[in-house]
Amino acid sequence: MSKVRFYNGDDIPLEFHRARIVQKVRLLPVDERLQALEKAGYNTYRLDSRDVFLDMLTDSGTNAMSDLQLASMMRADDAYAGSESFRRLEDAVHDVLGKKYVVPAHQGRAAENVIMRALLRQGDIVPMNYHFGSTVNHITLNGGKVVELVSPEAFESASDNPFKGNVDTVRLEECINRYGAEKIPFIRMEASTNLIGGQPFSLSNYYQVRRIADKYGIRILLDATLLGENAYLVKQREAGYGDMELKEILRIFCDLADLVYFSARKLTCARGALICTDDFQDKLKLDQVVSVFEGYVTYGGMSMKEIEAIAQGLYEATDEDYISQSPSFIKYFVEHAVEMGIPMVTPPGVLGAHIDAKLFCDHLPVQAYPANSVVAGLYICSGVRGMEGGTASEYSPSDPGHIADMELVRLAFPRRVFTLSQTMFTLDRLKWLYDNRRLLGPMAYDDIPGMVRGFRTPLKPLTDWPSRLVAKFREDFGDSL
Ligand SMILES: Cc1ncc(COP(=O)(O)O)c(C=O)c1O
Repeated sequence: MSKVRFYNGDDIPLEFHRARIVQKVRLLPVDERLQALEKAGYNTYRLDSRDVFLDMLTDSGTNAMSDLQLASMMRADDAYAGSESFRRLEDAVHDVLGKKYVVPAHQGRAAENVIMRALLRQGDIVPMNYHFGSTVNHITLNGGKVVELVSPEAFESASDNPFKGNVDTVRLEECINRYGAEKIPFIRMEASTNLIGGQPFSLSNYYQVRRIADKYGIRILLDATLLGENAYLVKQREAGYGDMELKEILRIFCDLADLVYFSARKLTCARGALICTDDFQDKLKLDQVVSVFEGYVTYGGMSMKEIEAIAQGLYEATDEDYISQSPSFIKYFVEHAVEMGIPMVTPPGVLGAHIDAKLFCDHLPVQAYPANSVVAGLYICSGVRGMEGGTASEYSPSDPGHIADMELVRLAFPRRVFTLSQTMFTLDRLKWLYDNRRLLGPMAYDDIPGMVRGFRTPLKPLTDWPSRLVAKFREDFGDSL
């Protein structure tokens, strides 16, 4: 994207695609936005999509597909077993990821269920750079324990460390010596660590992890859900890789791993997941679990149309114009937000622009859910739906006092979905909210027994701050939507 220089010197992310199918969105007037939010219990997951102007909740299942992906879906071979579509998927996995065997599942967490049931035993330890929610769930449900090994700097939002997703290799070796290699079925490396702001790990760190894994005879499990972007940031930021093609860097990542899995809702398609390996014994174990939970081993809970779209999407994931679109928009957004004084996670990561809600609302304690306040405030002033990522979404009844490592608001940039003017609108409204941040007030959960907190439970504002925010919006914007 940065290949094109503007005459006026501006650093503008230029799109290398054209939109040919579009979806209409509407921006409700501010009073109706407040009503919609009240109806949703101030939890943006509960908003109806028709009431959302720009849906920046997630990139999961919301990336734009290509003309060739849609075309490929038309040639799906719906055979229950031995489908031509599955053969094409195997070829794509072999060509792009370099792995021999493919085990499909219906989405990323289903793949995690399969992996943990097949390869993890009661009492096992899984060292990793950082957790993702569904991964921890499946490890602990199967009797294992997670040990996280990113360095403390990963939790400092403002940083110039280009690889905050790196593993602390000294602590990795200490962990192996403490628990014993036989207790460790694999070291999990998550590309572009989602929950700490989409931060990548470097290839030099990964080579060190591989050396340690080899020394102790431990497998590496690569969560490749955000691998394209991690590889792109290696090309951008790590010495020695600038001239390499993205597909070569992707291959290095996969070659260094024993097992590669990913949610195809982020990488390649809008549905599905794959587990890829060269080890026939592991493949057999995975197949057994897939047959019980997902479906036959050549479709794993997906339709053949989705399998075709994943196969085509894998080839497209080697295209730098495609992979760099979302990170370039995020970089543009984060750099402008930082210039405006807004506390963002830096360096800009992938998947979304991340706001440090603790700093944004330094007048609110973590127990008052500042990230939920910022998300609610942003929806009120813009109709943009963001996502809280912190203490509320990590809540568990077994550890009610748990405080997350970071309180983030994520504004996701699904690939090729938003325009630059929509990005600038979001920045503009975020700046207004930041200037009026003292109006943001405390929130509390209105718990419903048995309901998962972050994703489903309604909240309530503890003061009338939302109405005061609307009044200030009217004062500043008049009758503007
Ligand atoms: C890094 C990572 N791993 C696993 C998953 C789980 O994938 P899914 O949502 O398809 O179940 C996600 C989903 O966002 C993810 O970001």
